[in-house]
Amino acid sequence: MRNLQVLLARYPDGPVTTDCYQFREADVPEPADRDVVVRHIYLSCDPYMRGRMRPGPNAFKLGEPIPARVVGEVLRSRHPEYQEGDLVWDFLTWAEYSLAPDGKQLRKIDPALGPISNAISVLGMPGLTAWVGMYDIADATAGETVFVSAASGAVGQLAGQLARVRGCRVVGSAGSAEKVDHIVNTLGFDAGINYKTEDLGARLDALCPDGIDVYFDNVGGATLDAVLSRINRGARIPVCGQISRYDDPDAAQPRNLHRLEAQQATLTPFHVANHMDRYDTVIPQIAELLRDGRIRYFEDIVYGIDNAPEAFIQMMRGDNLGKRLVRVGPDPTI
Ligand SMILES: NC(=O)c1ccc[n+]([C@@H]2O[C@H](COP(=O)([O-])OP(=O)(O)OC[C@H]3O[C@@H](n4cnc5c(N)ncnc54)[C@H](OP(=O)(O)O)[C@@H]3O)[C@@H](O)[C@H]2O)c1
Repeated sequence: MRNLQVLLARYPDGPVTTDCYQFREADVPEPADRDVVVRHIYLSCDPYMRGRMRPGPNAFKLGEPIPARVVGEVLRSRHPEYQEGDLVWDFLTWAEYSLAPDGKQLRKIDPALGPISNAISVLGMPGLTAWVGMYDIADATAGETVFVSAASGAVGQLAGQLARVRGCRVVGSAGSAEKVDHIVNTLGFDAGINYKTEDLGARLDALCPDGIDVYFDNVGGATLDAVLSRINRGARIPVCGQISRYDDPDAAQPRNLHRLEAQQATLTPFHVANHMDRYDTVIPQIAELLRDGRIRYFEDIVYGIDNAPEAFIQMMRGDNLGKRLVRVGPDPTI
């Protein structure tokens, strides 16, 4: 059986290109005592992976399969807690199969909760990120004005809807007319801005005439600067990500940070990895909101492991509408 793996071939200088990757055909691993072999079904593409594609202590290793969250099915198990056919997710690699030594930290997926891909999207890391930022950190409150950037993406689409659930007025920004239409007419945001074609500052003035109470920052850069000059007293800015800077970490820093002091506002960078203790409390609540139809969630799935590099590159430049995943094998629940 073929086990195609995607390796990091070189660290990119600027935007990631396909020649940063290479493919390797390996054997399907053999399990030793207590090991589990996982057949991969869905691989995740996440922006943070770009940060690990540069030399440093957390860098992905050259010549090795790219680490990523994976949903899969147990192919062979020599571990008493896992049976063939169990559906699981874990940090594995961009590959068709991998070995989870001693079961690693495989978590079982209950297919009754929804599509199994949700375990690495709305009912996984991106879902927890949106909740922690919007509720635990910003504590968005009814009647407040909330702005979300990258609003149609994996985290942004949920962050905005969670604010709507709390009774906030929610404005989002995204990079195409289709995305803006989607967040307003399908996800129920109050308004949207196409930051690529519209004057962001002028549109924020028009759509947030009473100022901004919460800014869920996914992008940093010019968007953060534009928001800082429009924040209200006591505003909260959970800094989830800075994707506009990932290809150019030396890009200019925001000039309007002095507005935080003037408005007694807080800017809180956070990392979901430091909030995993919230997982078992938060994920069932997101599942309930989905079940009740109070929120919706969209995944954007590319097919075939050969397409994983391009799927990631497209996501980084904004071609995804929703959480970008790569399906690399049959999903037995479909
Ligand atoms: N703090 C944490 O623990 C944590 C966890 C997960 C994610 N994050 C961060 O959250 C952010 C969103 O991640 P995600 O997984 O939800 O990805 P995503 O939004 O599904 O995909 C990335 C999106 O970023 C937007 N983008 C790319 N370049 C941009 C630029 N120069 N300016 C503005 N927008 C740009 C694109 O949408 P447009 O078409 O709208 O430009 C693209 O679709 C990222 O910054 C990521 O690093 C942080």
